Amino acid sequence: MIEDIEIGELRTLCQVIQEKYKYDFNNYAISSFKRRVIRFLELFKVPNMTVLIEKIKTDPAFFKTFMNELTVNVTEMFRDPSLWRDIRDKVLPNLFSTQETIKIWHAGCSSGEEVYSMCILLKENGWLDNVKIWATDIDENILAKAKAPKYNMKNMFEVNEKNYIRYGGTGKLSDYYKEEHGVAHMDTSLVSNVTYRTHDLVKSGIFNKFDLILCRNVMIYFNQQLQNEVFKLFHESLFNYSYFIIGSKETLIWSEIAGKFITINQEEKIFKKVKE
Ligand SMILES: C[S@@+](CC[C@H](N)C(=O)[O-])C[C@H]1O[C@@H](n2cnc3c(N)ncnc32)[C@H](O)[C@@H]1O
Repeated sequence: MIEDIEIGELRTLCQVIQEKYKYDFNNYAISSFKRRVIRFLELFKVPNMTVLIEKIKTDPAFFKTFMNELTVNVTEMFRDPSLWRDIRDKVLPNLFSTQETIKIWHAGCSSGEEVYSMCILLKENGWLDNVKIWATDIDENILAKAKAPKYNMKNMFEVNEKNYIRYGGTGKLSDYYKEEHGVAHMDTSLVSNVTYRTHDLVKSGIFNKFDLILCRNVMIYFNQQLQNEVFKLFHESLFNYSYFIIGSKETLIWSEIAGKFITINQEEKIFKKVKE
């Protein structure tokens, strides 16, 4: 069992990844980054950091596996059901009161459950055709899963369906998928207005302007300096008087752009941009 790794070794690892693959993990929160690396070493029986760094330098396929393990992809449909009620009852009605179509960005969408939640909500409220959605993630493998979702049925019953009921959906979650051999195949017609693409929040920059951005449970993996930079990117990517939603354990308070937003709901972490 690997007890610990040196900060210096982590720095070398980040440097090699940045030089060879152009991903910048330097400002990821160090303790969770370290935990993920240790987990990888143990899982893939890599004896030490020197071997890991050498393999990453020389083997792009190995790096792909590493990337896959490094990013935390845990997600759920209708995660935090009360937030989804607020999106349905307050955020979207407010946006639709002044415009016919809206643009939404799910940043760090993982395997797509958050996007399906949004599309189900939109469909049940007659808004699906009035919305364009962009769903992005740094991790190509997880994005491939988001594009062709096959969700585990156990998870579907034990997590997603429970959340959907607590949210107060008007149908049944099973209206939106077909079960085959313990796997839920989602109805992909729900996501015909969704563009999936890889996007690295650390370096890819602005690519559109949005009325609503959701970036939930991604910032917790970044240190404060990086959070600050990424919050600036979101501020720039939002129209004035549009909405920004982060994860329940995340905060805007310390960032430079905090004064350019007002809090709509502190508990649900819903903010509105009020200043360019
Ligand atoms: C824990 S998941 C959150 C999924 C979903 N937003 C939710 O709250 O259920 C975090 C996601 O952020 C992605 N991620 C990590 N670093 C990123 C970066 N620099 N740019 C874009 N996505 C990133 C990961 O690949 C992962 O899919």
